[in-house]
Amino acid sequence: MTTNIDEFIKEGTNVIIGLNKWSEYKTLRSNKIAKSFAQRRLDPVGVMDFTVIITSKSCKKYISDINSEKVIEVKEEPTFKSIDNSLKEIYPIYKKVTDSGLLSTFTLIALGGGSVIDTAKILSMMLSNNIKYSREAEQWHHRVSTKRARRQIYLICVPSTAGTGAEATQFSTIWDKENGLKYSIVSDKLNRTIILDPEISLSLPGEITISTGIDALCQLLESTWSKKADTSSIKSAKLGYQILKNNIVRTVDDPKNQDSRLSMLVSSYLSGISISKANTTLCHSISYPLTALLGMPHGLACGFTLIEVIKFNSSNENELIKNTLLATENSDSKELINEIEEIFELVHYKDLMSPFVNQIISSLDKILPLTITNSRASNNPRNANIDDIRFIVEKSIDRITN
Ligand SMILES: [Fe+2]
Repeated sequence: MTTNIDEFIKEGTNVIIGLNKWSEYKTLRSNKIAKSFAQRRLDPVGVMDFTVIITSKSCKKYISDINSEKVIEVKEEPTFKSIDNSLKEIYPIYKKVTDSGLLSTFTLIALGGGSVIDTAKILSMMLSNNIKYSREAEQWHHRVSTKRARRQIYLICVPSTAGTGAEATQFSTIWDKENGLKYSIVSDKLNRTIILDPEISLSLPGEITISTGIDALCQLLESTWSKKADTSSIKSAKLGYQILKNNIVRTVDDPKNQDSRLSMLVSSYLSGISISKANTTLCHSISYPLTALLGMPHGLACGFTLIEVIKFNSSNENELIKNTLLATENSDSKELINEIEEIFELVHYKDLMSPFVNQIISSLDKILPLTITNSRASNNPRNANIDDIRFIVEKSIDRITN
């Protein structure tokens, strides 16, 4: 994996790519020069550094040798309640930093999947802006960290899954599960270091590898037909798609392959960069109630309607998906659909989806009104009403059952 992605790195962010980079970081950190590593310069670390680690149960083994003030274990996607509870736990530590002067620093290490990284991003944003309740964070309009916080708060993101691109995006998802709704919290302008190290994802179970890979696939494709796509987001999506196309099946077939795992991490990162600008569209919009109400993994839920949404968007002689065809190097929607169908078949997507089909059918009337999330569906190049979505969902069910 030698692709250069320098042009797709945002201001204020470092991206460190390669096998064993996480171990290297830990060594440098224990030698008190972690900040030099993170910032690629030789400044000394703050006089005092207070560290909180956010991780998941399965990733705890990677953080056993780091000193920290606290470890928070994330068990599910962030909810308003889980975030408020975590903030209560870490606020006294952050307070020590702000009380002890400008030379001390607060480091939040997020090592895990999308939920872990989203949790850390929301917490960083709340601390930076002195926000005490996540409901307030959701309505926050300034969305920039204060200068002081920017000098003192450091976020280290180490994704364990290759799919959400959460390490690269400015937004985090927060759920209101009782009502089957999700919201977005924007955490911009954080000091962020991203470490893409395949070592962390080598032991990922097959279903998660597939589901997260399909999430990246949807993000890359949706960003190309989004109304918000621009030259730069199409360029990052094009590179991300080519890398994914060459590596998703390889990774599923040979999970210990470090090179393909690393490639998938880079592709997923690029999907995050692409949606940072262009956002996602109809597949993601339809997926939210499937995840919130039926517990479907996010990537599977997004991939469920991918092909039918391509068909829906390719009316009008492919005009609305011309950027997609450019990015994927296909000449028409038929060719693109064949390519996606082949990927789905080779990663055994149907097998993972089958257990959910009956649930989707029996809950369809409840799900449909929740499938139009305005901030996502409105980016779709062709407007979809509830009848259109019913058609898309029914056709997608046929694809799984036939
Ligand atoms: Fe996604």
